[in-house]
Amino acid sequence: MSKAKGVQRTFTFSGTALTVDRMGYGAMQLAGPQAFGPPRNRAAAVAVLKEAVASGVNHIDTSDYYGPHVTNEIIREALHPYPEGLTLVTKVGGRRGKGGSWLPAQSARELRQAVHDNLRNLGLEALDVVNLRLWGTGHGPSDGPVAETFGTLAGLRKQGLIRHLGLSNATAAQVEEARAIAPVVCVQNHYNLAHREDDLLIARLGTEGIAYVPFFPLGGFSPLQSSTLSKVAADLGASPMQVALAWLLHRAPNILLIPGTSSPAHLRENLAAARLALPPEALGRLNAMGSPGE
Ligand SMILES: NC(=O)c1ccc[n+]([C@@H]2O[C@H](COP(=O)([O-])OP(=O)(O)OC[C@H]3O[C@@H](n4cnc5c(N)ncnc54)[C@H](OP(=O)(O)O)[C@@H]3O)[C@@H](O)[C@H]2O)c1
Repeated sequence: MSKAKGVQRTFTFSGTALTVDRMGYGAMQLAGPQAFGPPRNRAAAVAVLKEAVASGVNHIDTSDYYGPHVTNEIIREALHPYPEGLTLVTKVGGRRGKGGSWLPAQSARELRQAVHDNLRNLGLEALDVVNLRLWGTGHGPSDGPVAETFGTLAGLRKQGLIRHLGLSNATAAQVEEARAIAPVVCVQNHYNLAHREDDLLIARLGTEGIAYVPFFPLGGFSPLQSSTLSKVAADLGASPMQVALAWLLHRAPNILLIPGTSSPAHLRENLAAARLALPPEALGRLNAMGSPGE
């Protein structure tokens, strides 16, 4: 595997003192199946987190509705007291129903409660970054006002419970509406090799120093599968998942990665993708995926 040259390794969130490695970790897979209930092996989940941080990960994405509570409790057990320089990003705006359904929780009371749940279960006095998860249509955003919901979080930021704010599952218009209320340091939307609806948004956020953090970078609950991806990976002596992650790192310097895994082997494989160089010819083939004729 050749080393990635010319790909920026770190990112500083605009207007903050927070600098993170662009290869982070998403903690959702540490709860039980479909991020509901406890994992089969809690000690293994703790070990994955410890290894991630020992390997240099300093950006972890979570939510108190994973489990619910389970993922944050595992993060606390594995990493508290947190090492200096570790940025924990959480999200609020949802809750879990019976059987694990994903439901909106966007009232001011629910948002305040979610912030306090995150503080308690992570063992923190202030949260580094909180994303307001908008409900939209499943994994995609839909238009609608955010002033009230984002305003509630901006109020909690003023109280010192939150340091920085972001949005998740948001349209460009919602990002702009929110930025008029308080600074937005990151946007977390569905994006990967096979889902590129946010190309323009990524570029626009990049000019403002705002991070774009794709969720489902590997395809999420249905991992990416493509013959082009497999062929490029074979040519480079890498795995398809490594190529999918490296493509995102090459795509734009404001893209931060939070691939999720409960497996130490997958963790190592994913972290190694930060060093995978994609030659122009490989990038061309990957960029063309999804174009007519592919
Ligand atoms: N804002 C939102 O609404 C939202 C939604 C979803 C997720 N997220 C965040 O985004 C993070 C990433 O998303 P995600 O975890 O759902 O999806 P993902 O990173 O796209 O993919 C995770 C899936 O891929 C598998 N996997 C990971 N590495 C692999 C490898 N090297 N080879 C083969 N399979 C591999 C994992 O299984 P194993 O455990 O077996 O490795 C898991 O099934 C989450 O952890 C969460 O923090 C946010």
